[in-house]
Amino acid sequence: MRIVRTVAELRAQVATARAEGRRVGLVPTMGAFHEGHLSLMRRARERCGLVIVTLFVNPTQFNEAADLQRYPRDEARDARLAEGAGADLLFAPAVEEVYPPGFATMVEVAGVSEPLEGVVRGPAHFRGVATVVAKLFNMAQPDDAFFGQKDAQQALLIRRMARDLDMPVRIEVCPTVREADGLAMSSRNVLLDREARSRAPVLYAALRGMEADVEHGERDVARLLARARAVLAARGVQAEYLAVVSTDTLAPVTVVAGDALVALAARFGAVRLIDNVLLHVPMVAP
Ligand code: PAJ
Repeated sequence: MRIVRTVAELRAQVATARAEGRRVGLVPTMGAFHEGHLSLMRRARERCGLVIVTLFVNPTQFNEAADLQRYPRDEARDARLAEGAGADLLFAPAVEEVYPPGFATMVEVAGVSEPLEGVVRGPAHFRGVATVVAKLFNMAQPDDAFFGQKDAQQALLIRRMARDLDMPVRIEVCPTVREADGLAMSSRNVLLDREARSRAPVLYAALRGMEADVEHGERDVARLLARARAVLAARGVQAEYLAVVSTDTLAPVTVVAGDALVALAARFGAVRLIDNVLLHVPMVAP
């Protein structure tokens, strides 16, 4: 695996691979790798002849300076793990390589960027995500790009951006990888203290409960949410948001029919965790 730091080096590597007829896969990340990240890299390895992992803690998507500062960083460890998962290239640029002086253009995806994380983190967050991912797509010009279902709103936003701006890239969204106790893997999990870590699996337990309720025939969203809130409250957790929304627009739904996304966020002290599940209910003919 090669580590490259400039767009020019990255482009030279991509050009060589393309000349050899290889399919180019891109896995954008901010590092601090865990099995969730590695699953995306392994999937890219299955599909692509050149696997590029990008490692860039993107300052424009952080709304709190403290959050950016305490974001875990260990490039040597990440490089070892990426290589083990099958990456050919690790693109780890400096901030000035991505945002040179005078940088002035941002990408904004209206609609799906606004609810849920958009409310809590403010409009700058998804503007930062869309902008950096658009730049990474332009830098690497991948055939395929891989994202995690863990960040469902982000994945939807990137699909919408690629479609709206005619970016010639296939977006693949891969399943959420979890710890044995159900907690969705996240770079932020290491920041949880013991007590918070022991309560955090209740997020997925509440979501699983909603899935089970739907399987048992419940379709009313208000009742689903009330039961899930009670599950959370029993472990002293209050959701920052808990919502059943359209998988297409993220608008709230009141009755589950067809596909719906359940999105959940909660704070454990200074650490915010998010999780989600997809609900599927066969549409019944009227
Ligand atoms: P980061 O949080 O490092 O995540 C990189 C990718 O890993 C994202 O697509 C994310 O959804 C995926 N991921 C994280 N945890 C996962 C899990 N438990 N299971 C499966 N996939 C998981 O998301 C970002 O970085 C940034 O916003 C980025 C897209 C790189 C733009 O800066």
